[in-house]
Amino acid sequence: NRYVAIMAGGIGSRFWPKSRTNYPKQFLDILNTGKTLIQSTFHRYNKIVPAENIFVVTSDEYTDIVAEQLPDLPQENIVAEPFRKNTAPCIAYIAFKIFKKDPDAIMIAAPSDNLILEDDAFGETAENALQFVESVNALVTLGIKPRTPNTGYGYIQHDTMEAAPGIYKVKTFTEKPNLELAKVFVKSGDFLWNSGIFTWKVKNVLAAFEKFLPEVHEVFAAEIEKFNTPEEKKIIEEIYSQCPSISIDFGIMEKAPNVYVIPASFTWSDLGTWNSVYDNMNKDYFDNAVVGNEVMVYDTHNSVVHVPNDKLVLLQGLEDFIVVDTKDVLLICRKDKEQEIKDYVADVKRNK
Ligand code: GDD
Ligand code: MG
Repeated sequence: NRYVAIMAGGIGSRFWPKSRTNYPKQFLDILNTGKTLIQSTFHRYNKIVPAENIFVVTSDEYTDIVAEQLPDLPQENIVAEPFRKNTAPCIAYIAFKIFKKDPDAIMIAAPSDNLILEDDAFGETAENALQFVESVNALVTLGIKPRTPNTGYGYIQHDTMEAAPGIYKVKTFTEKPNLELAKVFVKSGDFLWNSGIFTWKVKNVLAAFEKFLPEVHEVFAAEIEKFNTPEEKKIIEEIYSQCPSISIDFGIMEKAPNVYVIPASFTWSDLGTWNSVYDNMNKDYFDNAVVGNEVMVYDTHNSVVHVPNDKLVLLQGLEDFIVVDTKDVLLICRKDKEQEIKDYVADVKRNK
């Protein structure tokens, strides 16, 4: 059978202050579309997999938000993590759970913070991936033609010959390179961004864990008989407290020899940072992307402004800035420093 695991436990720290630890970006309608990111994600996957085979893996503290935002998702498919340990433990956990009840299962592990415009084209690509992993021991990701040397992504270089129609074997996978390297990658024209949407047979990804992240595999494998039983919650706390915090990209995708990529034909964007919001919004005459009913701009260009509707905001002389105002926090930051917002937020927490 086919399953989808939506990963929704991140805190979206580069999106501060709109995205907050107690209500992160996947639960926000950041582009004003009428749906939150996790709602669009769920609906996209529900077109290819029935709701009872869709899981949302998230932090303990967000399970109520998930239940409220996704009324069509069976309650028992909301999987809670006691600690944030990044995506590798999250995937190991859900893969073991699925494996226990369906050892031949195929799954898609998907982020909850992507914007995808053509759901039909997406469905065809996902179908291609699902069929491929049925017969080949492959860890498949969907690849995106890079537009900028963004250092927040994984970069993929693949063989020129197809392994199957539309599918290529990956030669190198470089997670979050530095800017210099990212520039070289984009300029070469030979690289794709990793979308972070993975497809594999559950037992094959578990084999990859055993080989490349044995310290993660071990702690889960030792307790598999307690999964899907009333004892699970307690044992998961112990397992997670022993698990290292590591992403699937650094832990497995950079190392595994059986990674494949399908270049995507749909429009994709990771709404990970303020620049990505900027890129996906309509701009005014001076190329500003503005949310807020009473914003006045003078001599201000290429900026992203996100302020409450009931606040009069006047900006003068800004070029390439991020201005975000919320009830209790105001951020003013240069657009080219957006990757550093993560570090600033860490400072804020330290000083509190
Ligand atoms: N359940 C759970 N637990 N989910 C998590 C956790 C966790 O501890 N940490 C992150 N997630 C979720 C996030 O909510 C998001 O939906 C997804 O997993 C990916 O995590 P991000 O933190 O957003 O990763 P990233 O954007 O820095 O990098 C990944 O995505 C890029 C594309 O958007 C990588 O896969 C990159 O290689 C990729 O290019
Ligand atoms: Mg992301």
